[in-house]
Amino acid sequence: MFALYDSLLISQGRTRACYRHPSDRGLVIKVPVGDKKAQNRSNIKELRGYQALMREQVDLFCISHCYGFVTTSLGRGLVCDCIRDDDGSISKTIWDIIVHQEVCDVAYIQKVTDDFCRFLIQRDTRLFDLNLKNIALRMQKDGSYQPFAIDLKGRFDNKETIPVSSYSSYFAKKKMVRRTRQLIERILFFRNRRKELQSKTG
Ligand SMILES: Nc1ncnc2c1ncn2[C@@H]1O[C@H](COP(=O)(O)OP(=O)(O)O)[C@@H](O)[C@H]1O
Ligand SMILES: [Mg+2]
Repeated sequence: MFALYDSLLISQGRTRACYRHPSDRGLVIKVPVGDKKAQNRSNIKELRGYQALMREQVDLFCISHCYGFVTTSLGRGLVCDCIRDDDGSISKTIWDIIVHQEVCDVAYIQKVTDDFCRFLIQRDTRLFDLNLKNIALRMQKDGSYQPFAIDLKGRFDNKETIPVSSYSSYFAKKKMVRRTRQLIERILFFRNRRKELQSKTG
């Protein structure tokens, strides 16, 4: 069993808390927060999403790979790759950078995000939960960013009445194009509101 402490906490999302793995710096462990059923199901949805992606395309380097469940002091956790910058620090999400970092090149972040989404769309990679907190930007030695999808549950968290985009390539593509446009717009929108967001989210 793995003991998870506050000092290992990287960040918390809506349904899960993400911890550094206690003995392997290349991994994270995600555990549900709260005890609602939906929160508990996030890890299962993510593993299913990951397995579906792997069935469809084997050489996906730009996602955090999932390795299955382990028992932790905080319940059952999902083990995934930890995305780290070239200098070894844990990569920030787009949200962390545009809301919490004083200096950042917004146009460049929009460009790498747009390129990343286009790459996913071209390859029919169905990752619908593309929000600012679900994409990590790995900073490379030369200062450039390499985006990684770190939350893969979106495909099985589909809120459509009839989840056509989970099954149809045509609708999946349309949805991804829509999501990409929103994502790029939100980068500037949230950047411009960062002062009020910083005071709300700490
Ligand atoms: N593989 C990872 N590497 C580094 N940080 C991560 C990783 N996965 C998640 N995180 C951090 O933890 C946060 C919450 O994880 P996420 O899987 O998105 O949970 P939720 O299901 O609650 O949205 C992310 O926004 C990010 O800050
Ligand atoms: Mg998330």
